[in-house]
Amino acid sequence: MKHLLVTGGAGFIGSNFVRFVMRHRPGLRITNLDALTYSGNLENLRDLEGEPRYRFVKGDICDRTLLDSLLKDVDAVAHLAAESHVDRSIIDSGPFFRANVIGTQTLLDACRAAGFAEGSGKRFLHVSTDEVYGSLPLERKDLLFTEVTPIQANSPYAASKAASDLCVRAAQHTFHFPACVTRCSNNFGAYQFPEKVIPLFVTNLLDGKQVPLYGDGLNVRDWLHVEDHCDALLTVLEKGRFGEVYNIGGNNERSNLELTHLILQIMGKDHSFIRPVQDRPGHDRRYAIDSSKIRRDLGWEPTRSAWPSALESTVKWYADNRAWWERVKSGEYQTYYQRQYGAR
Ligand SMILES: NC(=O)c1ccc[n+]([C@@H]2O[C@H](COP(=O)([O-])OP(=O)(O)OC[C@H]3O[C@@H](n4cnc5c(N)ncnc54)[C@H](O)[C@@H]3O)[C@@H](O)[C@H]2O)c1
Repeated sequence: MKHLLVTGGAGFIGSNFVRFVMRHRPGLRITNLDALTYSGNLENLRDLEGEPRYRFVKGDICDRTLLDSLLKDVDAVAHLAAESHVDRSIIDSGPFFRANVIGTQTLLDACRAAGFAEGSGKRFLHVSTDEVYGSLPLERKDLLFTEVTPIQANSPYAASKAASDLCVRAAQHTFHFPACVTRCSNNFGAYQFPEKVIPLFVTNLLDGKQVPLYGDGLNVRDWLHVEDHCDALLTVLEKGRFGEVYNIGGNNERSNLELTHLILQIMGKDHSFIRPVQDRPGHDRRYAIDSSKIRRDLGWEPTRSAWPSALESTVKWYADNRAWWERVKSGEYQTYYQRQYGAR
């Protein structure tokens, strides 16, 4: 791999992934293609400005002409661009199906036209989510999602991601397209947009505000540190078998209530800071991942996700980077692109 195209590299996982790959693969060039929607924030990658191996391109994965020009000498693609927030997909699903389905299919078509085929040496990684599998019952702790669990997406977000997974599968099956799919559990870490539960709760508490807890708080998620996810993505991109799906998870199941109590404890706050709110419609009860395949076949292991230390260091990151999230919450970060690139 000499030249990697990352889509969605200005988002939470994408920016961590770009930084992770720059650090661990010093011979590699990266082009970061991102439309800078509300969740894309170039300030996440401020430290890479001026780095000759890194280039940012503002653009849309639905723009075939742009993709054709960018893919000319690219030999690997890590596809992370997506609309990603379930609550927003419930309010308006249109942008989700446009970006996640049409965008993915456009990217696949452009890659095929640019010579992505088995034997070409080119590789494609499609970054998906455990949410495509639907929900597990709380009382069946023995059940975990495996790679052959049926797709039973329950939210418009999950449905759009499941559809994008099937676009990749169809390309693999019909055209021997050289792709792998990953399905990961919930990520936490630095630079996460503060609409998602951990940065939302931490930044609210740092401002002395209450945290809105959905329903009875008993919904369970598996939590993985974003750098462990990045490590898994790079592993699959380099070593994954074409046509395979790899689940990625941290064996770290927590109810939202347990997560909230731990954040309150870390931040020295009492339970009066919890504000119960009406549950999300169709809220999946439990996600739990069996990630034995990637561990066994590709040798990946999470090393940065252990609680409480990983959650403590994440809380500390938001406490230490108040300027970053204040600019996100105020919308000020959206002027950064104009200032940085507007006159170029
Ligand atoms: N956050 C998680 O816990 C999690 C877990 C599993 C999988 N995922 C998947 O990982 C990927 C990244 O998630 P995230 O949490 O970093 O999301 P994010 O919302 O923080 O980032 C998404 C990025 O994609 C960009 N984007 C959106 N539409 C685009 C388009 N049409 N063209 C170009 N760029 C576009 C946005 O500007 C943003 O920078 C997504 O595919 C998501 O489904 C996320």
